[in-house]
Amino acid sequence: MLTIALPKGRIAEDTLKMFEKVFKKPFVFDDKKLILEAGGFRFLSVRSQDVPAYILHQAADIGVVGLDVLEEQESDLTRLLDLGIGKCRVCIGMPKNREFDFSMPEIRVATKMENITRKYFSKKAVAVKVIKLYGSIELAPLVGLADAIVDLVETGSTMEQNGLKIVETISNSSAHLVCNKNSFISKKEEILALYTSIKEIIY
Ligand code: PRP
Repeated sequence: MLTIALPKGRIAEDTLKMFEKVFKKPFVFDDKKLILEAGGFRFLSVRSQDVPAYILHQAADIGVVGLDVLEEQESDLTRLLDLGIGKCRVCIGMPKNREFDFSMPEIRVATKMENITRKYFSKKAVAVKVIKLYGSIELAPLVGLADAIVDLVETGSTMEQNGLKIVETISNSSAHLVCNKNSFISKKEEILALYTSIKEIIY
């Protein structure tokens, strides 16, 4: 049996809908349950940032996770497929009434994505002080905690409603199907069968 880690929220729902389309049966988590067994699969409901850990330590064989999380964590997983759902961008944002100045001696940037942020600014040879936050990132520049933010933008409405503008897009993200390297050897047939069925309905 394949164990599949899914990030809580809309990506999990869209992925389960994808499975419903492929296997023509319902795949729905019961209320607060974190494990769903259906159609010969076991699904785990986990926090998005935790998906790579479940797969890396083989508590799950495969999973669905945003490219932004994969790039942030640089986990040693095999990328199988871009599912084309959960599309968003990793952007630099700052208050609309201010200008971004790359020549500042040090820019304070609030973000959940410390590694992506450090890499981006070091490529530009800009000194950055990264302030790690866990949510509501858009608040930081509004109250003087940071000069700018690096955050996910989907519709853009959170930035808009908080008077922030996008200064630059660092990368694009979407949900990817990834797998554990050992599982890819020991459960190759099952994984490839699933990969093929999903690929057929998304392309
Ligand atoms: C994400 C992200 C932005 C928002 C962007 O936050 O960190 O805040 O969504 O979406 P939008 O462009 O459609 O407005 P999330 O909802 O995951 O909450 P969090 O900030 O508490 O992590």
